[in-house]
Amino acid sequence: MSIAVILLAAGQGTRMNSDHPKVLHPLGGVPLLAHAMATARAIEPERIVVVTGHEAARVDAAARAIDDTVLLARQPEQRGTGHAVLQTREALADFDGDVVVLYGDTPFIRPETLRKMLAARRDGASVVVLGFETADPGRYGRLAFGPDGTLEAIIEAEEPAPRGIGGAVCNSGVVVADCRTLFELLAEVEPERTKGEYYLTAIVGLARARGLATAAILCPEEETQGVNSRKDLAEAEATFQRAARLAAMANGATLVDPATVWFALDTALGRDVTIGPNVWFGPEVTVESGATIHGFCFFEGCHISQGAQVGPFARMRPGAEIAENAKVGNFVEIKNSIIEAGAKINHFSYIGDADVGTKANVGAGTIVCNYDGVFKHRSRIGARAFIGSNSALVAPVEIGDDALVAAGSVITEDVPGAALALGRGRQVVKPGLGLRLMERLRALKAAKAGE
Ligand code: UD1
Ligand code: MG
Repeated sequence: MSIAVILLAAGQGTRMNSDHPKVLHPLGGVPLLAHAMATARAIEPERIVVVTGHEAARVDAAARAIDDTVLLARQPEQRGTGHAVLQTREALADFDGDVVVLYGDTPFIRPETLRKMLAARRDGASVVVLGFETADPGRYGRLAFGPDGTLEAIIEAEEPAPRGIGGAVCNSGVVVADCRTLFELLAEVEPERTKGEYYLTAIVGLARARGLATAAILCPEEETQGVNSRKDLAEAEATFQRAARLAAMANGATLVDPATVWFALDTALGRDVTIGPNVWFGPEVTVESGATIHGFCFFEGCHISQGAQVGPFARMRPGAEIAENAKVGNFVEIKNSIIEAGAKINHFSYIGDADVGTKANVGAGTIVCNYDGVFKHRSRIGARAFIGSNSALVAPVEIGDDALVAAGSVITEDVPGAALALGRGRQVVKPGLGLRLMERLRALKAAKAGE
């Protein structure tokens, strides 16, 4: 049976008190929306339709950037969750199968939970709802069960609760339904009396009125944790990080001080990776098996290969590729550069837009001057080359294999392989002059003091 996912993301998120749409606020280094989209992708749907409305152009672009195969549906006015789902009618006109409704601001629903709901759907329920038990039902809708234990309706918080509804099981909002039935039921939904909104939740009662079977699947409350405010966002970040740290350790990484390591949704770590304290992973980072990340490092958009060592206090920026057994030490920044196997850049360097050959040794304080104020240029340091400390390599420049650059050089021209290049003022030595100068200065000071 094919699956389609509808992802609602049209709401404004008023309580965020923000100029930016709620679903674009970052969680785990990526837009909030990306979490529900990752859940959606995990159940391998035939299509994903994202419903946008508030700041639609920005949310559309973000959804496309996360997954360029998504379909977009526009809800020009936010007239309720049922109305939002109705806007996907065109995108799903030729779709025959099961539809899963997810929410852009609800990041932690697990694919396993959706699979349970899909199984209940295949067992004959036309509409399956995801519920959860909570000590604090607050503004959530409540699931109303009949005497036989079957789901009869969803009662919104502002609606009068029928007898027997104590609010034990709340509605997460997630729904699985047969596509055709879903749109037939939505066509029957009447606007709610006070706000005039069309509620998706009304389809449960309507399904029952038609004699269709409905079902509720329950999940832990944590999965339904949503983001409505900045406080919720901070709590969701804590939830995300806690889970990411546990997953990293379960997959065979050592975290010396887990609470101080920050992951992104897509951070990928191999086995036997060791991560020191206070390490931050931005999006698009992969670290292969056996690599060691010492404390206080900052990563984004980079790849660290097997056996490489990075840090402490290193910053790997987008496009940094650190090959097998390469070493990047303290206060080194690398951007858009390939550091080949076994190369060493151990102290205080900036390497930007450069390729560093295998086993090259880049001395302390070496700077690749990749930017001339207008253009960026690419450079190369050859295999086994030795760059003396405090050298400036003015890009574009090529240092050949096995070449040697003297410490303190400013290199503006290519250096052939195996050559020695010196690009600095020649040293001058005046015997005895150092001491004579000092004595003259001390005498001057004594004369001034005696005045
Ligand atoms: C909804 C459910 C409620 C459930 C709760 C769980 C309904 C009527 N109620 O209530 O039973 O307990 O979620 O969080 O469905 N949205 C749109 N377009 C709209 C309206 C909403 O895209 O016109 C999106 C919002 O961006 C949001 C989500 O749908 O992500 C939920 O909408 P919201 O208005 O917050 O519904 P609740 O009142 O929380
Ligand atoms: Mg809500």
